[in-house]
Amino acid sequence: MFALSFVVPFSVNLARAQSKTPAIIPAPLSFRVTTGTLKVSDGAVLSFPSDDADAEFAAQFLAGVVQRTRGIKLTPRPESGQAPNTALIVFRRKSSEDAMRKDSYDLQISPEGVRIAAADRGGLLYGAITLWGLLTADAARDGDAVLNCVSISDAPELPWRGIMLDSARHMQSVEFIQELIDWMALHKLNILHWHLTDDQGWRLEIKQYPKLTKIGGWRELPSVAGKTDPATGNSYRYGGYYSQEQVRRLVAYAAQRNITIVPEIEMPGHASAALAAYPQFGSSDAHLSAPVSEYGIFPNLYNVNEETFTFLENILAEVMRLFPSTYIHVGGDEAVKDQWKASPQIQAQMRALGIKDEDQLQSYFIKRIDAFLTSHGRRTLGWDEILEGGLASNATVMSWRGMQGGISAAKQGHDAILTPTRPLYFNYRQSDAADEAPGRFALNTLSDVYGFDTAPAMLTAEERKHILGIQANLWTEYVITEDRVQWMPFPRMAALAEVAWLPPAKRNWNDFLDRLVAEKKRYEALGIHDAPSAFRVRSIQHLNPGQNRASVELHNQTGFGEIRYTVDGSVVTASSPLYEKSFDLSLPSRLRAAAFHDGEIPGSVIDRELNAVTVRRRFSQDLKLCVNDPSIQMEPDPPVPGRPVMLANYQNPCWIYTEAELIGIKRISAQVDPLPYVFHDPRSKPPQNPSLSGELQVRMDTCGGPVVATLPLKPAVGHRNVTWLHASLPPPARSA
Ligand code: ACM
Repeated sequence: MFALSFVVPFSVNLARAQSKTPAIIPAPLSFRVTTGTLKVSDGAVLSFPSDDADAEFAAQFLAGVVQRTRGIKLTPRPESGQAPNTALIVFRRKSSEDAMRKDSYDLQISPEGVRIAAADRGGLLYGAITLWGLLTADAARDGDAVLNCVSISDAPELPWRGIMLDSARHMQSVEFIQELIDWMALHKLNILHWHLTDDQGWRLEIKQYPKLTKIGGWRELPSVAGKTDPATGNSYRYGGYYSQEQVRRLVAYAAQRNITIVPEIEMPGHASAALAAYPQFGSSDAHLSAPVSEYGIFPNLYNVNEETFTFLENILAEVMRLFPSTYIHVGGDEAVKDQWKASPQIQAQMRALGIKDEDQLQSYFIKRIDAFLTSHGRRTLGWDEILEGGLASNATVMSWRGMQGGISAAKQGHDAILTPTRPLYFNYRQSDAADEAPGRFALNTLSDVYGFDTAPAMLTAEERKHILGIQANLWTEYVITEDRVQWMPFPRMAALAEVAWLPPAKRNWNDFLDRLVAEKKRYEALGIHDAPSAFRVRSIQHLNPGQNRASVELHNQTGFGEIRYTVDGSVVTASSPLYEKSFDLSLPSRLRAAAFHDGEIPGSVIDRELNAVTVRRRFSQDLKLCVNDPSIQMEPDPPVPGRPVMLANYQNPCWIYTEAELIGIKRISAQVDPLPYVFHDPRSKPPQNPSLSGELQVRMDTCGGPVVATLPLKPAVGHRNVTWLHASLPPPARSA
C-alpha cells in the first residue's frame, strides 16, 4: 500500500514551484501535494497495531503533544483485529525490506484519513512528529485543524543527529533533561551525547567507587570560592550526581523517543574531579582536595599504570551496564602532558614500553581502553586529539577543532562525527546583542549553522561514507542555569536538525526561514523561549552633534521580513512606516521597530528611549574588544538576579568605543563588575593589561594612546552589585 513508487521524488525546489514545502522542520525529503483536505477534530481516533509497542508509543506521543500544542484531543486505540479499521489516523508497521532506510516513514493524508507506515521505531515516531508539525503549521492553537492532502516519503540523510549536553560543569535536573529529549525528538534528532565527568564534577553514580560522586561531585562555585556562607558558616558547595536508577530511567525515556544516550567518561585529562576523589590513580603527588572551581584546562591526568586501568575498566563496566549505546565516549581532549613528563614512574614506564613521547603514550592509553570496550562489543568514541600518536583500531573520531580531525579520520578509513566549534558549538553566542545570553565571544548564528557543510569537498564519495553525522555541543561553564541551557540551542536546533536530515542539494535557507515562523509558534506552545536573534530588529544610532538629532539605522540578522517602525511613541504595527533607509530623528524620541512577515512579528519588538545620554551609551557588547580571543560574555557563577551580563576578554580586558562624539563632554561614567572567573590555559600567558593593576584607564585614539582619565576599581572590589565609576574628561584636543 505504501510502496515507494507511490511518491514521485520531487526535489523540494521543483515542488515549491507547484506547491509550498509543508511548514515543518526538518523539511521532508520528498512530498507530493494531492487534492483535497482533511479535517482533524477533537476525539479523532488514532489506531495502532495491538501488539506493536513502538506504534503505540508513537500514537500516544502524538496525542500528548497535539493536545498540548493544538488543543485537539486524539484518542489512541489498538486495532481490534476483526472490525474494519475506521480510525481517522492509522499507524502501520511495514516490513524492513519495504523501508527506504532506517528511521524512514511514509505519511499519506487523503480526504479519508491519515496513514503512517514505517518499519522501525524511529520511522513510526517521525511519521507521528511530521503529522504533529502539519497539525500545528498554522497559527491556531486550538480548534479543528484542516490539513491539505499530501503524500510524504521521508528519511534522514545522516544517521548521527546529535546534541551534546555538559552536565559536569553545571548540572541539570532529570526533569529538564527529559524535556530536552522531547525537544530533540520533535526535531528528529537521535543522539544525546552526555558529558558526565570533568574537572569540575563527576556526575554519574559508580557503585564500586562511591567517592567519585561523594567527593568528586561537589565543588565551590568561582564567584564564592574560598568564602563562607554567612547564613550557615559553611563554605558554598555546588554539585550533585545522577543515580544509576535515574540514569536507567532516562536511557529508557530517550530510547522510546528513538534517542540513544551516549555517555562520556573523560580520560586521560579533564580528570580533576575523579582524582580529587581517588588521588592514587593520578600522575602527581600533589593531591587535590576537591574538584576545581574555575574553568579551562588543568594538568591533572590519570596515571598509566595497571591499577589505574583496572580502576577505569571497572568504571566503564558499570557504564556499559547502564548505557546500551554501541558508542562509549572516552574524551581524550586537551590533555596537557606536564604531569606525565614530570613523573619518573611514568617516564620509566614509557621507556619500558618503547614509547617515544607523551602523545604516543596517550595513544597507548586510548588503545588500551579501546581494546577493553571492543572486547565488550562496544565502540570507542573520542575527541579528535585521539588521532595524535596513532588512532586506536576501532575508534571513531569526534572532530571539534575544525573539520581536520574528521577529514583525517575518514581518510584513514575511520568513522567520524563532525562537531566543529564553528559553527556547531551552541555555547557560542547567537548574536552580539546586549541581551544575548552568556556565551563565547564568536557568533555561531542561525545561518552559520544552516550553512554547515556536511560533505567536505576534500573527501571522496567513498570517504564521506565515514562521516556518520553531525552534532552540536552545549558546554555549560558559563551556560549556568536551565533557562540558559534551554535558550542556547533554540532556534539553532532547528537548523541543525534540517542540515542533518536533508541532503545538501535539498537545503534552502529562505524556505527554512519561512518555515521557522511556524516552528517558533510551536516553540511558544511548548514553552520554549527561543532567542529572537535571527529576526529581531537592531538599531544603530549616530549622534549629530550640536543639533540634538540622531540618525538611525535598522537591520535584522537574517534580513527576513519587512522592518516597520514608529518614533512617536505609538505601537508598531504591520501598517507602521516601512524602513527603507537610515533616517534622522530629534532627541528625545521613542523608537519602536519590528520585522514583520505576513503581518506578524516572528522576532520581538524593540522599544528604545533615545536621548542625549542613551544615544551615547554603549554596553560592553556594543564596544569592540581590542583583542577578541579569549573572550566571553559572562555573569557571576552563581548568577546574581538582575546583574548584567558583560562581554570581556578575561586576559586583556580592554574595549574600544569607536567614533565617540566628545564635543561638549566633560565626564565619563562606567559600570564595572569583577570578572567572575577566568579560563585556565597552561599554554597562554597571564593577563597583561595594565588596567588590572586596579584602575580602568581611558585612553584616546588607540589602546596605547594617552591616558585621559583613570577610574580606580577599588570601589567595585567585593561588591555584590555592579559599581558605577565616574571621572572627568579633559576637553578634546583640537585636531589640526
Ligand atoms: C572540547 O571542546 N574540549 C572538546
